[in-house]
Amino acid sequence: MSSSTISVDGKSVELPVKEGTIGPSVVDISKLYGQTGMFTYDPGFTSTAATESKITYIDGDKGILLYRGYPIDQLAEHGDFLETCYLLLYGELPTAAQKADFDYRVTRHTMVHDQMNRFFTGFRRDAHPMAIMVACVGALSAFYHDSTDISDPHQRMIASMRMIAKMPTLAAMAYKYSIGQPFVYPQNGLDYTSNFLRMCFAVPAEEYKVNPVLSRALDRIFILHADHEQNASTSTVRLAGSSGANPFACIAAGIACLWGPAHGGANEAALKMLEEIGTPDRIPEYIAKAKDKNDPFRLMGFGHRVYKNYDPRARIMQKTTHEVLNELGIKDDPLLDVAVELEQIALKDEYFVEKKLYPNIDFYSGITLKAMGFPTSMFTVLFALARTVGWIAQWSEMIEDPSQRIGRPRQLYTGSPERDYVTVAQRG
Ligand code: SDX
Repeated sequence: MSSSTISVDGKSVELPVKEGTIGPSVVDISKLYGQTGMFTYDPGFTSTAATESKITYIDGDKGILLYRGYPIDQLAEHGDFLETCYLLLYGELPTAAQKADFDYRVTRHTMVHDQMNRFFTGFRRDAHPMAIMVACVGALSAFYHDSTDISDPHQRMIASMRMIAKMPTLAAMAYKYSIGQPFVYPQNGLDYTSNFLRMCFAVPAEEYKVNPVLSRALDRIFILHADHEQNASTSTVRLAGSSGANPFACIAAGIACLWGPAHGGANEAALKMLEEIGTPDRIPEYIAKAKDKNDPFRLMGFGHRVYKNYDPRARIMQKTTHEVLNELGIKDDPLLDVAVELEQIALKDEYFVEKKLYPNIDFYSGITLKAMGFPTSMFTVLFALARTVGWIAQWSEMIEDPSQRIGRPRQLYTGSPERDYVTVAQRG
């Protein structure tokens, strides 16, 4: 193992360098504080590897995304979402028999405890579905005590199956509740994504036939969103899990973090931005706002902490958008016209070129999901549904790591030095 030397206050400290399979090496600074009394400082974790992982690899400069070594475009093209779930969880693509068994095991957990229905009557009909998801996923730990002991691999596996299987059911329930329609129970004879579409859009009054083109497109969208290395919500799940919290609570924490508009909430924010722009002639006004340092407005769905090239998922997303709009006979979607024109202008603009800002996965997803019939408020719920397997795979990897300890970052303190109490009478 090679090493690096840093000099602190004239004292040289040797730190080991660890090599990865591919991608940047790391300087192991875990002994730095003990040897120097100093911390490193990296508030946004722009240069910090918080863990070792074998699950997902991103090369931001080249626009590469691999799940367990397989390129995202190949998985999206040839596989299905449950196959991707198996790959992320177990590290290898399943054989036909393994896939059939995995699909069967997930399918057997699609229903939720019937008393969960009562949670919904406590929410206002206009509650944001992400608020409902945070509440209900966290509440799963109140029902499934037989899968909260994280030291038991079998219980961890059952909890994982339950979350992958129940997220679509809870997401569909949140949607149905928001539109005042009765919940639709899962149909285990349908595939994972067709089952979800039926739970969202079927009504008791008539037969519902799943459109296979839309089901395939949404299944592919789930694959694109399944995992993404140590992003904010995954890091939240890992940190929550490092304290020994039960898996349902950890995933609820991940959902809460994903909700932010800088993260998974960007798909909802991006669509609202396109609707606000409205027509291509207003694009220059918004590009100017995005470039104005005094204006907090940002182009939602643009930019990424890691990708300084085109997000490979955005390309596949754009192709899927056209596929869905064609299937639905939507010839000219004004939102798509604005999005395509905005992308073309931004990618030629000096500001975006210099800052390496490209469309990310959230830029086109909203147009597709809206065309499928989902309200804007459900977009991040669908992101959370798909990302649940990534959170679980990363959480499991951490729990199974024998060197795992509770995560406890330190700080640079710039507050008041020690001072004595002053009574209210002395405060003037
Ligand atoms: C996701 O991490 C992941 O992997 C996340 C994700 C996943 O799958 O888990 O990929 C999913 O969250 C995608 C990102 C979705 N968010 C958005 O689309 C929101 C808009 N994007 C930005 O808020 C921003 O680009 C972030 C939050 C995504 C990244 O922020 P960074 O890495 O902290 O970058 P930054 O804010 O430091 O920006 C660098 C510069 C700044 O200008 P300067 O201060 O250097 O002059 O670029 C500018 C920013 O002002 N900038 C933008 C911009 N994004 C960055 N300017 C205008 N519009 C934007 N969208």
